[in-house]
Amino acid sequence: MAEIRLSGVSKRWGSFIGVDKFDLTIPDREFLVLLGPSGCGKTTTMRMIAGLEDPTEGEILIDGKVVNDLEPKDRDVAMVFQSYALYPNMNVYENIRFPLRVRGSDPATHKEKVMRASAMVELDDFLHRKPAELSGGQRQRVALARAIVREPNVFLMDEPLSNLDAKLRVSTRAQIKNLSHELAVTTIYVTHDQIEAMTLADRVVVMEKGVVQQVGSPTEIYDRPANTFVASFIGNPAMNLMKGEVAGGTFRAPHTEIAGLSIGDGPVTLGFRAEDAEVAGEGGQITAPIYTLELLGDATMVSVRIGGALVSAKADKSFRAEIGDMVSIRIPAQICHLFDAETGARIGD
Ligand SMILES: Nc1ncnc2c1ncn2[C@@H]1O[C@H](COP(=O)(O)OP(=O)(O)O)[C@@H](O)[C@H]1O
Ligand SMILES: [Mg+2]
Repeated sequence: MAEIRLSGVSKRWGSFIGVDKFDLTIPDREFLVLLGPSGCGKTTTMRMIAGLEDPTEGEILIDGKVVNDLEPKDRDVAMVFQSYALYPNMNVYENIRFPLRVRGSDPATHKEKVMRASAMVELDDFLHRKPAELSGGQRQRVALARAIVREPNVFLMDEPLSNLDAKLRVSTRAQIKNLSHELAVTTIYVTHDQIEAMTLADRVVVMEKGVVQQVGSPTEIYDRPANTFVASFIGNPAMNLMKGEVAGGTFRAPHTEIAGLSIGDGPVTLGFRAEDAEVAGEGGQITAPIYTLELLGDATMVSVRIGGALVSAKADKSFRAEIGDMVSIRIPAQICHLFDAETGARIGD
């Protein structure tokens, strides 16, 4: 059981702000993902929760108890890092057992605990090997098993998949998802990869420059991004964003005219997702020459350039055309997202 609460948590080094007034309650058993670009303060937030870094300001509570002054070892959290930090001279069995020895738990229980943890990450057949004799994915699973064997109240995982190749990343990701379901322990998982965030999280916290931009379920942040930063960070491809002017409910930008918007006159940033638009023969809201075509297998991505920015729409997989051909893209008003032209904040719902 562990509910974690961050209350006004900030970290500054001199005048540099690493994390700015982080406020969040993470309920027991939630799988929370901290998502954002490199340097946005994810690791710093996690290290403060683990007790490896002192907040400049604010309180961290575990199950209602302030833990700011508790040593990492007294917080009952287990961390898994990007680098596996295994002991090269110990075999897999001893690596997984290590935290039990350090904690002085009853040696009679070790074998059963190690066997159970190693079975969970499918390492049963590798217990005698040294880390050097394992693949990257297997090493990361040893690190996972070493965290599991402690039966902690909280799991902290910092980019655990980023050293793995693409294929292994997908299978290890699936394994972590299944594992978290089985273990049902509060987990905070850090990544810069929006697909990992979307596939693993109960809730996602999107961060930028130390500031929380949005907190929500994967569906919420995908369907209703709070600002242009989140809109441009989530989704593959990211949401199309166009700067233009609205007059009488009609948005205009080069090659573009979208009517039927409920918003006052003035400059605005309009967004839509490639998969919500349609590539039409004619009569669409954007009519422009094709800048590039990408065959994705299940669809064809068609891109045009509007005011210097790439704007994409997903067409049928059988769609064929040449670069330079005129294309018409249908963008009904109801698929459009509107953002303040100055601040980037979402307008309306
Ligand atoms: N010990 C430190 N001293 C000064 N700046 C730091 C220190 N640790 C991290 N930072 C800075 O704080 C920012 C956030 O770092 P970090 O939390 O590691 O980002 P992320 O994990 O999101 O990539 C970065 O700009 C980083 O350079
Ligand atoms: Mg980091």
